[in-house]
Formats: sequence, C-alpha cells, structure tokens
Amino acid sequence: MKLCMIGTGYVGLVSGVCFADLGNDVICVDKDHDKITKLKKGIIPIYEPGLEELVKKNYKSKRLSFTSNISEAIKKSNIIFICVGTPTKKNSNAADLSQIFNVANEISKNIKSFKIIINKSTVPVTTGDDVEKIISKKVSKNLFSVVSNPEFLREGEAIRDFIYPDRIVIGTSNKKTNRVLKSLYTPLISKGAKYINTSRRGAELIKYASNAFLATKISFINEIANLCEKTNVNVEHISIGMGLDKRIGGRFLRAGPAYGGSCFPKDTRAIVDTGSKFKTNLSIIKTVIKSNKDRSKLLLNRVKKMLKNKIRNKKICFLGVTFKANTDDMRESSSLTMIPYLAKKNAKVFYYDPSGFKKEFKKFKNVFNASSIKDACKDSDLIIIHTEWNDFKLLNFKNLNKKKNFIIYDMRNILPNEKFKKGKVKYFRIGS
Ligand SMILES: NC(=O)c1ccc[n+]([C@@H]2O[C@H](COP(=O)([O-])OP(=O)(O)OC[C@H]3O[C@@H](n4cnc5c(N)ncnc54)[C@H](O)[C@@H]3O)[C@@H](O)[C@H]2O)c1
Repeated sequence: MKLCMIGTGYVGLVSGVCFADLGNDVICVDKDHDKITKLKKGIIPIYEPGLEELVKKNYKSKRLSFTSNISEAIKKSNIIFICVGTPTKKNSNAADLSQIFNVANEISKNIKSFKIIINKSTVPVTTGDDVEKIISKKVSKNLFSVVSNPEFLREGEAIRDFIYPDRIVIGTSNKKTNRVLKSLYTPLISKGAKYINTSRRGAELIKYASNAFLATKISFINEIANLCEKTNVNVEHISIGMGLDKRIGGRFLRAGPAYGGSCFPKDTRAIVDTGSKFKTNLSIIKTVIKSNKDRSKLLLNRVKKMLKNKIRNKKICFLGVTFKANTDDMRESSSLTMIPYLAKKNAKVFYYDPSGFKKEFKKFKNVFNASSIKDACKDSDLIIIHTEWNDFKLLNFKNLNKKKNFIIYDMRNILPNEKFKKGKVKYFRIGS
C-alpha cells in the first residue's frame, strides 16, 4: 500500500519505517527541513534502539523516502497518517491541536482521489469530527474517510512495540475503510495482535483512558512506597505481591521518581480538560496529576535530609536524566525539576546520560555534562540514580568515587540492596 506519515517524530518515523519494512511504500513528511536532510543522509534525529539499521535498510530498498513536500506526499498516497505533536496549550491543560488542524487544512487542499486519513496522534475525543469538518469544507465526503488509530508504542522499545502490539485499535464505522486497515495490519495480527474496531470517538478515548490508567498505576505504587518507607516494608515485595494477581498485573507498578515523558503528563492534563468540557469531573485523574507533581518535591526533601540541609557546594551526580531508559527524550523528565532546584541551591551538579548532552541544563553555570560515568561520579557527595539505564546496574561505586563517605540515592531500585549493608557508603532506595 502507499502510505504517508505526516510528522516524522518518534511516532511517525518509527511507524513509517516499520510499515515500510512490512512491504509498503512509505513517504515520511516533516516540515522540519533539517530533520529531513539528516534522515536522507542516514542520520537519525532521535535515540531509539534498532531504528538506524531499519531506516537505512528500507531507505536503500526505496520503500521508505523522506520529504518536506506535503502536497506531493498526499497526492502519491492512499493512506495518510497524521503523526504530529499534541502538546499542552500554553496557560491551559487542554491539548494544543493547532498542528493537527494545520495538517487537516493541508490535506483538504490536496485530495483528488479517495484517501483514508488516519489520526495516529493522541487527540481528545471528538477531534476526528473536527478534522472531518475541516476537510469537508473543500472536499466531498465520499472522497475521504477520517479514522482514529492511536499509537501505543513506548519510547526505548518502540520498534518491538510497533511490530508486536497487544492490540490495534481502529476507530471507524466505515466498513470498507475497516477492511483496508485490517489488511494493512494483517502481518501484525498474524503475529498475535488483537484487532479492535470501534467508533472513532471510542478509539480516541481508549488512548487517553489507557495513559491515564497507567499514570494512575505509577502514582499509586509511588504513594504506597512512601508508606513502605515509614513502616520498614520493601515496596518491591508489594509490587510483586500485587502484580502477580492477574487482575492487577505487575507492569507499571514499580516505584520511582515522578512519571514524565511526552505522553502521561500532557495526556492526563488533557483528559481532565476534556472532562470539564463535557461537564464530567475526572477526580481520580486530577488527584494523580497532583500526586505526581508533589513527587519531585518529596524526593527533593529526602535529598535535603540526606545532605543534612547543606546543599551549597555539594557535588551531586545524576546518573541518567531522561524520563526513562533507552530514549533521549527529556520532555517532562523529573530531572528537569530536580536539577534546577539543586543548582539554584548552589550545588555543583554533574550529570551523565548515555544519550548525551542535554541543552535543557545549558543555562545553569553550575550544571555540567560529564563525558563518562567515572567523571560524573568522582568526588561526589551524593550520587543519584535517576534513570534505569543498564549502564548503571553493575557499577562498582567504590572504585568510581575516591570519597569514602558518600551517599547513593537509587531512585530506581536497580542496585542490589545487600551490597552497601557494610561499609561507609550510605545507600538509600525508594520504598524501603
Ligand atoms: N512519543 C511517544 O512515545 C508517543 C507514543 C504514542 C503516541 N504519541 C503521540 O503521537 C503524537 C506525536 O508524538 P511524537 O512524540 O512523535 O511527536 P514529535 O514531536 O516527536 O514529532 C512530531 C513531528 O511532527 C512535525 N510536524 C508538525 N507539524 C507538521 C506539519 N504541518 N507538517 C509536517 N510535519 C509536521 C514536527 O516537526 C515533528 O517532527 C503525539 O500526539 C503524541 O502524544 C507519542
């Protein structure tokens, strides 16, 4: 099939290259010319394991191409995926849908034959209706069909998630469109993915409800971890004990820092906003947002306590700053709250992240990017394991830090607890 992905970010690029690998002709479009030029040269703008090889293979075989010419891409394709960003609006909790509506306008100018237009971006329920209205101002309704097909991939495991999804959700009441999309996804269905056809609004809401529920699970176990710390119970045991119950499930039930990333924070805010638009109080999700906001403050209070309130001139090392491992994505990472706070209190903060330098900390003169784990850790008063990269799991901290009395705050519970029982290194975890 002939597809085009409008928006070549995490979702557009990963799903585009995977569709190409399944044998489709895919054009990835982006208005960011620099991104397109780089992609044509085989330079991948994001850190995502396995992506570079797959892009190069499919670009070489000419099943995958890159362009900034949106009209050409639309004209050449039968199926158009909208994969642009839906960030939070400034001064509001609502999703900013301007990128979606701009693309809808572009599409409406370029339809000459029947097109299936798929919204893969995460959008509030009823956005598909608005997209349809915009396009139908210029195009007859029998020349297009607007579908919702939310994406559930996780950064860091995006290719695997795309190829082996738990489910594929298609929101359309058009039988012919549904048949075409079922056949597009047949290679994934035959590998075990469940195919769900629902209404367009239903598909839009499935995505938001899923993200809000996962955010709730994380916040729930984080609060249970707080109670564990007061009662001398290990939260890891609680996660296992709860997670083995099939009605609960163990995933997203690991205590740690506040959840971050490009999805949960903005999507929880947006669904609450949608709730109020439709006069529905989503009180549980509101509480989750508040709990998550308070989480970074709570962990910082613990840091202050560990350092006996003396932060000035302390050398604090952050291992990992991204919101999760195996991605370079910094969007709403809790390190963006913690590092500036400590920097403002005049700590010297060194960070090391396997995905490299972060422009977000450039403006702080006492925050430094270390080029190795060793450089980051050396002479630290406090080492904070912020992100669960594999690179940090087997480190011998006593060899990395010449200081004798230093503290480790393992915010991901990735080091074996017993290791630090004896000796001068003080080791703190979450929820025990
Ligand atoms: N990142 C994830 O893990 C993830 C997972 C599932 C769903 N989503 C959802 O998918 C959507 C996209 O997320 P993302 O992380 O890929 O975003 P992103 O910011 O990485 O990429 C969006 C891209 O769209 C491009 N763009 C914007 N307007 C354009 C236009 N008019 N024409 C061409 N290109 C345009 C931007 O330049 C950018 O490269 C969001 O709604 C997000 O919530 C993201």
